[in-house]
Amino acid sequence: MRPSHVLLERPLRCLGLAGIMLRVSALRMLGRTLRSRVSLLDYSCPRLYSSGPLGAREDAHDARAYFTTPIFYVNAAPHIGHLYSALLADALCRYRRLQVPSAAATRFSTGTDEHGLKIQQAATAAGLTPTELCDRVSAQFQQLFRDADISTTDIIRTTEARHWVAVQHFWGELRARGLLYKGLYEGWYCASDECFLPETKVTRQPGPSGDSCPVSLESGHPVSWTKEENYIFRLSQFREPLQRWLRDDPRAITPEPFHQAALQWLEEELPDLSVSRRSSHLHWGIPVPGDESQTIYVWLDALVNYLTVIGYPNAEFESWWPTTSHIIGKDILKFHAIYWPAFLLGAGMSPPRRIYVHSHWTVCGQKMSKSLGNVVDPRSCLDRYTVDGFRYFLLRQGVPNWDCDYYDEKVVKLLDSELADALGGLLNRCTASRINPSGTYPVFCPTCFPRQQGLVGPSVRAQADDYALVSAVATLPKQVADHYANFQIYKALEAVSSCVRQTNGFVQRHAPWKLNWESPADAPWLGTVLHVALECLRVFGTLLQPVTPSLADKLLSRLGVSATERGLGELYFLPRFYGHPCPFEGRRLGPETGLLFPRLDQSRTWLVKARRT
Ligand code: MSP
Repeated sequence: MRPSHVLLERPLRCLGLAGIMLRVSALRMLGRTLRSRVSLLDYSCPRLYSSGPLGAREDAHDARAYFTTPIFYVNAAPHIGHLYSALLADALCRYRRLQVPSAAATRFSTGTDEHGLKIQQAATAAGLTPTELCDRVSAQFQQLFRDADISTTDIIRTTEARHWVAVQHFWGELRARGLLYKGLYEGWYCASDECFLPETKVTRQPGPSGDSCPVSLESGHPVSWTKEENYIFRLSQFREPLQRWLRDDPRAITPEPFHQAALQWLEEELPDLSVSRRSSHLHWGIPVPGDESQTIYVWLDALVNYLTVIGYPNAEFESWWPTTSHIIGKDILKFHAIYWPAFLLGAGMSPPRRIYVHSHWTVCGQKMSKSLGNVVDPRSCLDRYTVDGFRYFLLRQGVPNWDCDYYDEKVVKLLDSELADALGGLLNRCTASRINPSGTYPVFCPTCFPRQQGLVGPSVRAQADDYALVSAVATLPKQVADHYANFQIYKALEAVSSCVRQTNGFVQRHAPWKLNWESPADAPWLGTVLHVALECLRVFGTLLQPVTPSLADKLLSRLGVSATERGLGELYFLPRFYGHPCPFEGRRLGPETGLLFPRLDQSRTWLVKARRT
């Protein structure tokens, strides 16, 4: 059997330090770098261990936050899985902006990954030049993100000049530290996944003509045997620093099972990594500085995008880098949790502060793929279910720890029940002129709903369930904050949805439509029921902004909540209950703008027709 992953080291004569083993003393020297940079042994700077961009334990230095999506391959059009990656990052970023409203405090980047064999081959197959393919598909991704209301501050394409400068500079940093050497690489390469694989990760499958074809065990994509002289990165030397980073910061990778997976990889073989290809084989990429016969490995090129965006190699990047949170899918965890932090440590920088990992969408139980013809086009989903509707669906149903299955009926059912009926119905019930003829935020009556539960008196109308509602909604913002910090956005939405149901129960229980504004006995309680329900809606609208920005805007505008009253800092729920003034009481409601979210099920005929064809 052929040996796999054979690396024959040959020190580079042009690099003074190459070939020298990276010892602890050498690592200490790396510490003498830029202010915000850290050495392999000194990576325990406090910033690295803060609770993260969404957590509660933050100091003034943590006002900044930098979120990134993966950059997307341009070999094919976007699908809902790509949109999901971007939406998760968008929701985290928007949530952060509710915590720290200053526009200058948050950066959020996305972009396209345009180099490599995969793109080179896709362009050839499409009869286009790589540039034509990249321009075409990159524009599709950018259009999708605009359409889906993804609030990025930066979009990067790896074919941009600023990125070439950053990658070549980064390469120089690794080389100057003796972390690159030239050697013979022999092993399997998977062009679809753009990665090298050891023999243990390769299996055989019957090919189209019945013969046995080698494929990647994990992705099932074809692999080919590669033997060439490349530049090689001393990855094997980073096992210990990476283990220390992950052990010292248990929240570095969230959710926990992915953190464990990364630690597990560090228990296994960690061979040095080939980081270039022969230009004669791979011409579509960034040349190795000083050696035009080699092209930089596309993953090294792609990962540096996160630095390019924040101005690397100019010093401005230093103030943003320690605040970085990467949002990625599980298939690219190894690149982000092992290779990237090793490259960064090697170049004298800290690993990213947070890596948030999500699982994948399948379609009717199957992996989404062009060859199976089951790719779901996000554009038509946004058209059919509305932008906010589809955003809500993906984020409410997508569970980071497990794969989720997509089918159209599920979307209709969820949106009709949670957005149209429960939330929209609640708003309509409490603001309709029939029930609220003055069109104002009604007055709360503390004697009808005293703070102390269990009081008896002629005017006391609140019941035990009503106190349970107030307590649930009062603690909702904290629950939501915890779920965002743990990257469980679906749980945040589940908690909101449960409170919406409870509020509908409250309104149903007290049937304000049976109470009379003209009756002195009813009016204070009628006002109180509506006041409490509107306060609940104000909390829901505020907390839904990161997921359904337009719908939340419509809801809050209808309640008369101004733009400066929508942050988390302003979210004091039901102050009258706690004996404080309420700025909304007596205020005119905003104009009536129709249904908050029209039901979709009328369009079920469309679905049935589509299934028949
Ligand atoms: N170009 C690399 C990333 C480089 S980042 C420095 C890449 N691109 S990708 O287009 O293949 O994937 C981009 C993102 O989409 C990844 O986070 C990936 O996990 C995600 N998804 C791809 N298919 C998906 C699903 N079916 N479901 C959910 N997310 C999926 O990898």
